Amino acid sequence: MEHLLKKKEIVGIFLRNNILVNRDVLNRLSQPNIVDQWHNALTTGTHPQELIAPKQTNSSVKITWQYDELPKKRSVQDFIDYFNARYRAIHKLLNGRQELQNLTSISRIRLKKEREKASIIGIIADKGTTKNEHIMLTLEDSTGRIKVLITKKNEQLYQQAKDLVYDEVIGINGTTAEDIIFAETLVLPDVPIQEPKRAPEEAYAAVLSCVHVGSALFEHEKFDNFLQWLNGTWGTPEQQAVVSKLKYVFVCGDLVDGVGIYPQHEKELAITDIREQYKEFARLFSQVPKHITLILCPGNHDAGRISEPQPKLSKQYAAPLYELPNAILTCNPCMLNIHSGEQFPGLDVLMYHGFSFDDYSECVPSIKNSGAHISDRAALVMKFLLQRRHLAPQHTSTLYIPDARMDPLVIEKVPDLFFSGHIHKAGTLQYRGTTIVAGSCFQKKTKFQEKVGHDPETGVVPVVNLQTRDVTMMRF
Ligand SMILES: [Fe+2]
Repeated sequence: MEHLLKKKEIVGIFLRNNILVNRDVLNRLSQPNIVDQWHNALTTGTHPQELIAPKQTNSSVKITWQYDELPKKRSVQDFIDYFNARYRAIHKLLNGRQELQNLTSISRIRLKKEREKASIIGIIADKGTTKNEHIMLTLEDSTGRIKVLITKKNEQLYQQAKDLVYDEVIGINGTTAEDIIFAETLVLPDVPIQEPKRAPEEAYAAVLSCVHVGSALFEHEKFDNFLQWLNGTWGTPEQQAVVSKLKYVFVCGDLVDGVGIYPQHEKELAITDIREQYKEFARLFSQVPKHITLILCPGNHDAGRISEPQPKLSKQYAAPLYELPNAILTCNPCMLNIHSGEQFPGLDVLMYHGFSFDDYSECVPSIKNSGAHISDRAALVMKFLLQRRHLAPQHTSTLYIPDARMDPLVIEKVPDLFFSGHIHKAGTLQYRGTTIVAGSCFQKKTKFQEKVGHDPETGVVPVVNLQTRDVTMMRF
């Protein structure tokens, strides 16, 4: 009944907008999930025309993966199914790996009486240290749980195991005994070693994050320099030569500072209305030349649901962004393909704000003890997550939607470019053919950052040469 009413309402809106309700439209409306999706879109401001013929955007940017599941109530079973879905997805990546000989299930290992070599794939349910300082894991698959001992005598393996986090899926090869495996090899899903894909001609992408428009600490002057650079009136001749070939500007979340994000937030705001903040953002970004495509995803300061995947910014709050003719709004995270041409398949971009990064920066020993300051660890965390093929493996590291059908935070496709932000300091790293880039910010150090010892560096914009894959830091 509810669907029937929604369907009627949708048809009404179509007719009022003089859009023909043809057989194709009616066919699509016979699917309950389409009815929900369209109803939700129409009531949050999407024009009906966009539903039947999505707006054509720049052909050199294609969104290849996005998440548009509607919000609904979740149960405990959803969490169970979600972790099972994660297990299946990572299992697929690990299955068939040479290091995992004699792959079997945990229940079968537990039946073995004799010592034997075997491999398993499991999700880390527990991690602890024995009296003798060996690492003891509990791995779980759909058939059961088993203990895995990693002795500190195997130095390389031990160091690798120290970095393991709860809920990540790994492969183990070792020797079985009653109810335990003595690990010899630890296998992460990781990304394969590959040659970086290069664009056939010189072209550039700039990576921004955390613009925080509306904050009293917004860096007006530096942002103005950035806009002037884009318009060819700022920078050295070399910097102007780069911008003449700049095709893409990515903004990896925290477009605005938001309202009520933390206690007494209003004291640090110059614009206290979220809609006004987006209006100002749109005014600033309307000065970006129209031949440059803007790709905008939300972050934890933006309006709307912050559980990941975050939906693209809605017209309800961010209507002025929809008026920018060169802007593409995406969810967070998302996958895009950019710069494809007749001879070139394009580069695959994984775009993610980075809310989970703080956690790994602190709890992974090799990152924490890397010697890098807490604000310089973003690229290391991104590499760590690529190795896990997951944007937030540990349950507590971010807020997420426990989708029962699939784990949307699994990195299924290996990205050529991995763009993020959140840490407020730019960083970059090349890892196995993937160019990792963290954007900086346009907001001076907040009181909170001061308290927790973060050291943001404002107005630094990493610019990626899509032909050489080199990254240059532009300082405004
Ligand atoms: Fe931010």
